[in-house]
Amino acid sequence: MRVAFLGPPGAGKGTQARELAREWRVPHVATGDMLREAVAAGTPLGREAKRYMDAGVLVPDDVMVGLVGERLGQPDAARGFILDGFPRTLAQAEALARMLKDRGQELDRVLYFDVSEGELLRRLTGRRSCPVCQSTYHLVSAPPRRDAVCDNDGTPLVQRVDDREDTVRTRLRVYGEQTAPLLDYYRHRGLLTSVPAEGAIDTIRADIREAAGAA
Ligand code: AP5
Repeated sequence: MRVAFLGPPGAGKGTQARELAREWRVPHVATGDMLREAVAAGTPLGREAKRYMDAGVLVPDDVMVGLVGERLGQPDAARGFILDGFPRTLAQAEALARMLKDRGQELDRVLYFDVSEGELLRRLTGRRSCPVCQSTYHLVSAPPRRDAVCDNDGTPLVQRVDDREDTVRTRLRVYGEQTAPLLDYYRHRGLLTSVPAEGAIDTIRADIREAAGAA
């Protein structure tokens, strides 16, 4: 199972990937989570990435390709993975194809999460996250069991800096300019399946299983 989840900010990629990676017993390779961990740890990568992330723009391709190449080279990724948030540019898509080819592998499927812009804004501005385990919640559609703390570890939930409305609009614009062209890239290679990603989280998950051939 080698799949990539593709879609705009707030489309639900992380929400679905976290559960399905457990179910399919493959690593959830989420570049946003990896970068946020580096920011929290204050590493040189984290310090470099933070200024791009806070502004809602993409971290340079060479940094991202290096990070993902290293992660996919770890033993647990040998039997598969869910990529969440990578690739995000044509250069990243081409680098991914090369790195997989070098290992005698290829992507099985790219799943596009199709969500309207109004719903994305509603989801992102209402999102709250756990800074420790990275679980995500929504004030209205997916609240935690206890007010404002993470269900898993009791940590107080936070709003991501880049979920403020002006930064969300920048992220949506960057997605349209730099990531949306990947839809045609993967469609032409026969790898793209579009999944309607509005509605109940469980229903969407069932559609993803089917689209990935894991139903
Ligand atoms: P990243 O963390 O990857 O952000 P993103 O792609 O913008 O995606 P999000 O995490 O915002 O959304 P999601 O689709 O995972 O939605 P979620 O499941 O949380 O990247 C952050 C930054 O890092 C980038 O801006 C960039 O700077 C940098 N970066 C990362 N990767 C990079 C790369 N490859 N190249 C360069 N730079 C990179 O859901 C959202 C909300 O909706 C939650 O509150 C959730 O509870 C709720 N929700 C989910 N599903 C539903 C549903 N069905 N109904 C109602 N609510 C729902």
